[in-house]
Amino acid sequence: MIDFLHEAQQLFPYTQALRRDFHMHPELGHQEVRTAGIVAKELQSLGLEVTTGVGKTGVVAMIEGSQPGPVILLRADMDALPIHEETGAEYASRTPGVMHACGHDAHTAILLTAARLLHTIRHELPGSVKLVFQPAEEGMGGAEGMIADGVLDNPKVDVTLGLHIWNEQPLGWLGLAAGPTMAGTEIFKLRIKGKGGHGAIPNLAVDPILAGAHVVNALQSIVARNTPPLKAAVVSVTTFHGGEAFNVIPPQVELTGTIRTFDLEIREMVLRRFDEIVQGVAHAMGCQVESQHTRMTPALINDAQAAQVAQETARHLLPDSQIETNGPFTMGGEDFAYMMEKVPGLFMFVGSANPQKGLDYGHHHPKFDFDEAAMPRAAALMAATAIELLRKHSL
Ligand code: NI
Repeated sequence: MIDFLHEAQQLFPYTQALRRDFHMHPELGHQEVRTAGIVAKELQSLGLEVTTGVGKTGVVAMIEGSQPGPVILLRADMDALPIHEETGAEYASRTPGVMHACGHDAHTAILLTAARLLHTIRHELPGSVKLVFQPAEEGMGGAEGMIADGVLDNPKVDVTLGLHIWNEQPLGWLGLAAGPTMAGTEIFKLRIKGKGGHGAIPNLAVDPILAGAHVVNALQSIVARNTPPLKAAVVSVTTFHGGEAFNVIPPQVELTGTIRTFDLEIREMVLRRFDEIVQGVAHAMGCQVESQHTRMTPALINDAQAAQVAQETARHLLPDSQIETNGPFTMGGEDFAYMMEKVPGLFMFVGSANPQKGLDYGHHHPKFDFDEAAMPRAAALMAATAIELLRKHSL
């Protein structure tokens, strides 16, 4: 096997410069115009034909192998978050209130680096590589937009591969598990309507705050009493808005929150119980309720064979790694699951924390930053795994 790790380490200044530039100039979902422009320019500099505007601000390019063969899709996400950065780093965000707090700056730089590695050996590729730079991963439908624009077709994709740097684990850790890896996510919104009135005369009002409080309590029974103890589910009420004055019972309250599950049967049960509890409890308290829940992402399920290929590749390429083969890794969601739902593949986690350097704040924290030494490891792993998956698929 080509020593991709050595090659990626040679390219580290390139990767780091890109990542820090993206970090200084973060862009929110579907606004990644500057980022997409740099991505397109870098790909064009390799002589690749580049398609922009896929799923609004996404970028796609192909590395054609010399022989006909399967097509692997490699994906990076490009969007930042509406968070005000507090790292104090010299490469901190120059845009107030917007920050790369999830590491998508790294993902974009890593995939551009992996593209260079694969482009160098394009004549030996046992198939073709579709490079996909996706916008709007953070709950804004970026993956679905690219799928609608045909990213999985022309040429048809045979296997998918993506990764996330992972600050929950130290540098050197790799998460390469078969099966459920990240949760399926739903968002819900409730409007509980009672009857407003004077705070001193509650008997003439129907209090939606009390009804809402009972709904919040009762929803906890879904995980505690309805979910099999060896299965995972989360039901979190995260906003509760109502009322303006201390002596007025408001006419309505609004609640929002999220539901996380892995199994489809558990998901169906949780959603059914959710509806029963919300309707039943609100009505019992004399209120009407408008309720809706929307799927944000399916559960992310890694293909077993692809996971095995990645594990073997990692053992050769990064022998110092601690490889975790048992998922799931988080109840967080990831919209790459939409692509993997259509074309099975693998989503890898690359440990990136370094507590000695203070680089261990969690994803989405205003002080989030990671050890950049994770980037060449990730780029090499992505390139090498891509080749092995193409080879497996050609058999
Ligand atoms: Ni992310």
